[in-house]
Amino acid sequence: MADKRTYLILFGAQGSGKGTQARMLQEWLGVPQVATGDLFRANMGQGTELGKLARSYMDRGELVPDSVTVEMVKDRLSQPDAAKGAIFDGFPRNLTQAEALDAMLAQWGAGIKAAAYIQLNREQLMKRITGRRTCKNCQAVYHVEFNPPKADGVCDACGGEVVQRADDADEAAVARRLDIYLEQTTPVIDYYRGKKLLKEVDGSLSIEAVQQAMRSAVKPQPVRKARPAKKASAKKAPAKKAVKRTTKAVGKKTVKKPSVRKPKATRG
Ligand code: AP5
Ligand code: MG
Ligand code: ZN
Repeated sequence: MADKRTYLILFGAQGSGKGTQARMLQEWLGVPQVATGDLFRANMGQGTELGKLARSYMDRGELVPDSVTVEMVKDRLSQPDAAKGAIFDGFPRNLTQAEALDAMLAQWGAGIKAAAYIQLNREQLMKRITGRRTCKNCQAVYHVEFNPPKADGVCDACGGEVVQRADDADEAAVARRLDIYLEQTTPVIDYYRGKKLLKEVDGSLSIEAVQQAMRSAVKPQPVRKARPAKKASAKKAPAKKAVKRTTKAVGKKTVKKPSVRKPKATRG
């Protein structure tokens, strides 16, 4: 019997729009965005041990160790809202993580349905990154020029403070992230291309146009909304018990709905 769970991966360099698109896709698909960068930042905001560890790598633009990252993802996937699948954003980032993810899903009788690769040139990426602003509270993503919040510095979705990410403010860290991306993530993209799961999307279009392209690229049936609650379905991801770990607290945060508005301008 075909597996009904929807696990998707979004690839693209820093600033290509993974977070922006994943937040829109999760509404449409009914499965949460699992963004490792957002999970780390939420832990940093809460001052957890995981957050302190992650900060030391993230501020330099380096990758957090694989074992820590994979454990955090596993924990996130065991939460009830991820029982039907997930949209991975910023994960997997190297071959070790890709293999760990495949093994994890295989254990549950599931697998990746599709991987979308958002493409943009370096000049456009830099413009997106330097103008990006993020909600400190719910991590909704804005851009000073292309997608500003309605009120200056205030999140449309939750009223939180909208700020520049620490790793975006440091030009050397941004350059390092782009280099690491090319070196470590390109082989992962090839890995999924080899499995015939990769769809390429032009990231230079407007936010809405990219979303349209993503939807037709990934194409799984959207889950029907507001179905009356029936008996819990038999086949689900394992381990519903919330494991006591530092990542637990950030669980539902990634599912919060950001307001999706038309960007003022749509170039990148
Ligand atoms: P992470 O948070 O994943 O950051 P990233 O990979 O650097 O990607 P970004 O979030 O920068 O870009 P995005 O593609 O989401 O773009 P966005 O939608 O914001 O990782 C940060 C750090 O955490 C890493 O450096 C590492 O240290 C650590 N980490 C994370 N995952 C890890 C892992 N798996 N293993 C180890 N370490 C890990 O869009 C960018 C801007 O453009 C926004 O301002 C947006 O409003 C605007 N925009 C988006 N789309 C459009 C459009 N179509 N037109 C105009 N503007 C647009
Ligand atoms: Mg992001
Ligand atoms: Zn917010």
